[in-house]
Amino acid sequence: MIRWAAVGVGNIARRFAQGLKFVDDAVLTHVWSRRSEPTAAFAAQHGAVACEHFEALLDADVDAVYIATAHPSHAAFSIAAMRRGKAVLCEKPAAIELAELDTMLAVAQAERVLFMEAMKPPFYPLYRALRAHLEIDPIGEPNFVRAGCGVSNYGPGMTDVDLERVGGSLLDIGIYESFLAIDWLGAPRDVQAFGRLGCGVDVFASVNSVHERGIAQWYCGLDLHGRGDALIGAPGGHVTIDGPWWNPRTATVTYKDGRTVELDVPFEGGGLNYEVAHFCELLRQGRTQSPVISHAVSRQMIDVIDRSRAALGLRRAE
Ligand SMILES: NC(=O)c1ccc[n+]([C@@H]2O[C@H](COP(=O)([O-])OP(=O)(O)OC[C@H]3O[C@@H](n4cnc5c(N)ncnc54)[C@H](OP(=O)(O)O)[C@@H]3O)[C@@H](O)[C@H]2O)c1
Repeated sequence: MIRWAAVGVGNIARRFAQGLKFVDDAVLTHVWSRRSEPTAAFAAQHGAVACEHFEALLDADVDAVYIATAHPSHAAFSIAAMRRGKAVLCEKPAAIELAELDTMLAVAQAERVLFMEAMKPPFYPLYRALRAHLEIDPIGEPNFVRAGCGVSNYGPGMTDVDLERVGGSLLDIGIYESFLAIDWLGAPRDVQAFGRLGCGVDVFASVNSVHERGIAQWYCGLDLHGRGDALIGAPGGHVTIDGPWWNPRTATVTYKDGRTVELDVPFEGGGLNYEVAHFCELLRQGRTQSPVISHAVSRQMIDVIDRSRAALGLRRAE
């Protein structure tokens, strides 16, 4: 039985707790967030202990800590948990810039604990089925990825979009597209970006990234309703993953000869449960990183985001 503690009790922590019910031999036992009332309500709802302080959570007899707070706080909570020997599953983006991620990864290595960024798409049954299908009925080596997402929640009066608190569209959303490009095309080599700025962050970014094996074209935005599909192109055909591609359920493989194959693979439990099950398995095996979302992949993802922000002229306030 893997015993979990959660840090943060917001939207994604709720989905995590729901998803955990679909994971065998794993249970949420402790939770902490900085406001006691929502922490107590969350703990009561999920049958966990509400810790009064973060230190109390670290003292708890748990195997793994799930970090579900705002991006700029991921590093401090992750590092503190790893220093106490806990395995850490940290929400995306794991860090707000590469240098910060490297500090976290150095602690993971020094403490020899499992650390993984919670990048969920590759663990969905559809995504795995698509990979398996392309092994037996290939389209050739992918050389192009196109994807995008907008959530349209930016506007006058919105005060919590700043680089110190949550960052902009690249950190919040673009990290997914960055993952997709890296997953199919390899390590990034070059990045070009255009965008719109507001409140000191990117509210929209359009990115071209050049990778080892191809080119990706993607966007992310907080000021448009652009929930998207994803396209993976190769010499022998292409794949369309229907939107929202980051919670994938259906995809179409279209071959050069005109054949099409439809994949429809539902997911249960809200979808986070698959990455959590993967993490639990790694923990049982004594692994310190995921072969899917490895430390190297996390470094590449945030590197693309850093380079995109630099191209837009965004710098973190010192
Ligand atoms: N994997 C996914 O599908 C997915 C989806 C959405 C979000 N996320 C990621 O999950 C993280 C949280 O997002 P969310 O949508 O759950 O946000 P949210 O609903 O605002 O919840 C954030 C939680 O973290 C707490 N918190 C925020 N900053 C904190 C700090 N500095 N110290 C201690 N507690 C802090 C908040 O407490 P207060 O109430 O006191 O502010 C709240 O409990 C983000 O990094 C986001 O990128 C992942």
